[in-house]
Amino acid sequence: MYAKITGVGSYLPAQAVSNDDLVARGVDTSDEWIATRTGIRNRHLAEPGQTSSDLGFEAARRALEMAGVDAAELDLIIVATSTPDFIFPSTACLLQSKLGNKGATCFDVQAVCAGFVYALSIAEKFVRSGSHKKALVVGAEVFSRILDWNDRGTCVLFGDGAGAVVLEASDAPGILATALHADGSHHGILSVPGNVAGGAVIGDPFLRMDGQAVFKFAVRVLADVAAETCAAAGVATSDVDWLVPHQANLRIIDSTGKKLGIPSDKVVVTVDRHGNTSAASVPLALDTAVRDGRIQRGQKVLLEGVGGGFTWGAVLFQF
Ligand code: ACO
Repeated sequence: MYAKITGVGSYLPAQAVSNDDLVARGVDTSDEWIATRTGIRNRHLAEPGQTSSDLGFEAARRALEMAGVDAAELDLIIVATSTPDFIFPSTACLLQSKLGNKGATCFDVQAVCAGFVYALSIAEKFVRSGSHKKALVVGAEVFSRILDWNDRGTCVLFGDGAGAVVLEASDAPGILATALHADGSHHGILSVPGNVAGGAVIGDPFLRMDGQAVFKFAVRVLADVAAETCAAAGVATSDVDWLVPHQANLRIIDSTGKKLGIPSDKVVVTVDRHGNTSAASVPLALDTAVRDGRIQRGQKVLLEGVGGGFTWGAVLFQF
């Protein structure tokens, strides 16, 4: 038995903010600096009060509609997020309530930008075990809330958004292989090293990053985990129809594609329009390429992500 993706969906908040808009808002940067180093030209930012579960709800609605599944039928809801609505309850429970589902297994997964591949891999194990039949897997983030808008080295890189897939038990091939890894000794190069305790913020509530260390780490592990996942499925990387990478930086995406021998016309890129939306980036890019007709049923698609922790992983599936 396989776990098969039967629906995809995504949602971006209405407010589009270009690099020039950031300059107009007082960020000491330029379109040229951001675009040449990262490929980012635009990102979407949530309205005040708009939460990860709000964005996730819109993405989920679209994925459920494509799958022809009613929210009441879901028996598993996993939300990958590092920007949850609350400390608790989980964003998955809040999303479940918005969808009107009762009784499903619901929990959040925290693996930052690798969150969606982590959540999808976990959901696949539930479905393949036979314990669950219809799963909703969502990546939803409002990273704009944890950015220090005075730190030009980080605030220009991220955006808000959500993506979702419906995963169902199926006899037809679906997810073919997954691989997940972490190395917590690198926690210091990308983190939000704060919390809330005793009614106050303890530590630093903003994202901090050593950009060059993150760049080197990401390039090294992404190609390795993608190759490992293909090998586990017995699929040559040259037989992958589409690579849908985490959308952090065009230079990381290009370098991973080159290392894997996957030509750039088989790599889905949305970072130019969406920025880095962390756990939402992979399902947002996947939905974009499904809805514009590039990714077709029956094709082999490789997803990969890397994020704070450090965490990284990949999923190979037949659509
Ligand atoms: N605009 C203009 N100048 C800037 C900006 C900005 N937004 N940000 C930094 N600078 C300046 C710095 O102050 C520095 O100036 P100085 O030389 O006068 O001191 C100069 O640009 C170079 O700064 P670096 O940080 O060394 O720039 P670098 O070339 O490393 O590029 C970048 C930074 C784009 C972040 C790069 O390191 C990178 O892409 N890293 C990957 C990080 C990433 O993608 N993180 C996403 C989250 S992690 C994930 O999703 C996996």
